[in-house]
Amino acid sequence: MKLFVDTGSIKDIEAIAALGILDGVTTNPSLLAKEPGDFRENLKKICGIVKGPVSGEVTATDFTGMMREGHDIAKIDDCMVVKVPLTRDGIKACKALSGERIRVNVTLCFSAAQALLAAKAGATFVSPFVGRLDDVGTNGMDLIREIVQIYDNYDFTTEVLVASCRHPMHVVEAARIGADIATCPPAVIGALFNHPLTSIGLEKFLKDWEQAQAVKA
Ligand code: E4P
Repeated sequence: MKLFVDTGSIKDIEAIAALGILDGVTTNPSLLAKEPGDFRENLKKICGIVKGPVSGEVTATDFTGMMREGHDIAKIDDCMVVKVPLTRDGIKACKALSGERIRVNVTLCFSAAQALLAAKAGATFVSPFVGRLDDVGTNGMDLIREIVQIYDNYDFTTEVLVASCRHPMHVVEAARIGADIATCPPAVIGALFNHPLTSIGLEKFLKDWEQAQAVKA
């Protein structure tokens, strides 16, 4: 399974890319709004750090505006993927942009029916938001199971990009189900590394080693 980071922070992206486990980046208008500087320049810099897909989202809500912004985002770099919301105009823009060989990530997906539409419109990625579904008392991972089953049934090539991951178990469950990608905030990627037995074990190994060296000295 591929692992993307969900952030607009260049510092965080550089740090995670340096670990050698990063396959791509997702951003959204809320994340990019937090960063200083021009969003196009920031996305260009991100493309220079990560050799993988980088999603940049349109803010227009009508088809014509989405097409204009989509072309503008796609021009930034070959890495760029145009993110459109799962609305009627978004699905229409997905079909048109995909027809021009521009990769599209259909975002704000909250149902299997919506995911089916994204695949039919030729989306390269669909982004179901598991954390936000959990927030309203439903099980976000159930939706991932449904989408993976539907896409498998019909050999849709749209990749299931599990978004709004809030903790390591979202990532583990996404991998167990066979989703293609999980995108996580930097803190959740950090948490994937942690296990108390690793820290305790390492501390003990190093202490034993030091003690043995002291005896030999
Ligand atoms: C995905 O592309 C979105 O940017 C993101 O995962 C949203 O996550 P949130 O629900 O934590 O804001």
